Amino acid sequence: MEQIVSDALVFFGATGDLAYKQIFPSLQRLAKRGQLRGPVVGVAKAGWTLDDLKARAKDSIEKHGGIDPEGLDILLNKLCYVDGDYNDPATFTEVRAQLGKARYPLHYLAIPPSLFVRVVQQLKASGNAEEGARIVVEKPFGHDVASAAALNHAIHEVFPEECIFRIDHYLGKNSVQNLIFFRFANSFLEPIWNRQYVESVQITMAENFGIQGRGGFYDSVGALRDVVQNHLMQLLSNIAMEPPPCPDVESLRDERAKVLKSVKPITADDVVLGQFDGYLDEPGVHPDSNVETFAALRLNINSWRWRDVPFFIRTGKLLNKSATEIIAKLRQTPAVFSDKLTPQNYVRFRLSGEPVVAIGGSVKEAGDTLRGCMVELKASQQCGTTDLLPYEELLEDAMHGNPVWFAREDYVEESWRVMDPLLKNLPKVHTYKPGSWGPEQANDLTRSVGGWSNPT
Ligand code: BG6
Repeated sequence: MEQIVSDALVFFGATGDLAYKQIFPSLQRLAKRGQLRGPVVGVAKAGWTLDDLKARAKDSIEKHGGIDPEGLDILLNKLCYVDGDYNDPATFTEVRAQLGKARYPLHYLAIPPSLFVRVVQQLKASGNAEEGARIVVEKPFGHDVASAAALNHAIHEVFPEECIFRIDHYLGKNSVQNLIFFRFANSFLEPIWNRQYVESVQITMAENFGIQGRGGFYDSVGALRDVVQNHLMQLLSNIAMEPPPCPDVESLRDERAKVLKSVKPITADDVVLGQFDGYLDEPGVHPDSNVETFAALRLNINSWRWRDVPFFIRTGKLLNKSATEIIAKLRQTPAVFSDKLTPQNYVRFRLSGEPVVAIGGSVKEAGDTLRGCMVELKASQQCGTTDLLPYEELLEDAMHGNPVWFAREDYVEESWRVMDPLLKNLPKVHTYKPGSWGPEQANDLTRSVGGWSNPT
């Protein structure tokens, strides 16, 4: 398969929010770099015309990154549109017709998960899933371990595993890929990256905005399924994995999956959930909804490297600020100076905005004192000039049949296994104030490690 490059892109959900915010801007860049080899077929049921879709694409790109006249022109010339119901075989016959001579389409399902199986079956029935075709499936992939396994099974009836690309745009971020690179490319870090030196690890993905008009979708998933099972588990894997034995794609994916295999299933005792005040008034949200917009979790990785080191994950909508950050607090040195006088060392990765790698250390305060003060050695992670958008990189990889930054079947099922007991027995959902750091109760989780480290 690796030698085949997809010669067309079909994207289902072309009139949707994700296409508007993320996909069109990425397609413009792919078009500009000559990475779109054949037609780009948008599919949706919106009663639109091709001109409507072109106008939408232009507007999307204008608002999200800006227009590159050459890239936009190439993209618009390639764009086709099929308006139709996903249950109607005629929609898929028309897709096949629009593909013309293309033989190896990449089908991208940017649609509600409830439609995945139907579309996959229709692709097969209409001759759109012949050998060499590939499929990209958006998150959430399932809603628990059983549904993820059933979805894997249904897609495997049509596409072999090497043609299935379970997308998670966090894996397309350079700062997230750098977690693995930085760990294994720097000899100063790896010797201390274990239970002997690391006392605890916190992963925070905070957003200072709400659900941005996505009430219908959000209320059916909540924070745990929207970002914890996927984006935040990916961060956990990258930060905790073992070095792969060989530099090939599957060895890397094996190690990422192995981390999740060592995570003890999370239960309600280790979780605090919250809902921001005002959520129930959002359009599309059920008036009695109990869905969480905040989640804080404690988990353990039962491995030689990490046993007994608590890992904390926290995410929320309408929090105090927007930042995604990982901070590993290192153990105090033996008490030459009093613990209380020497701030604790840490390693910090800022993954959003301007990515940063930083090390917190203690230096002696000036004057007649043995008190330490914290200084941070901070480096911008940005190096090189080619920064790809996450969807740009991932779609290009998928078109080349490169699965390195996609979730494998076992990985997805493991991530749901870890969360399954929790999802079956959720704790109480506490209300929190917009602009805060979530419900007070979340502070209990991290009290033993000195509290949460809020990104500054
Ligand atoms: C999406 C979630 O997958 O990721 C959103 O559905 C979330 O709720 C978004 O806001 C965050 O992505 P990023 O790249 O802006 O951190």
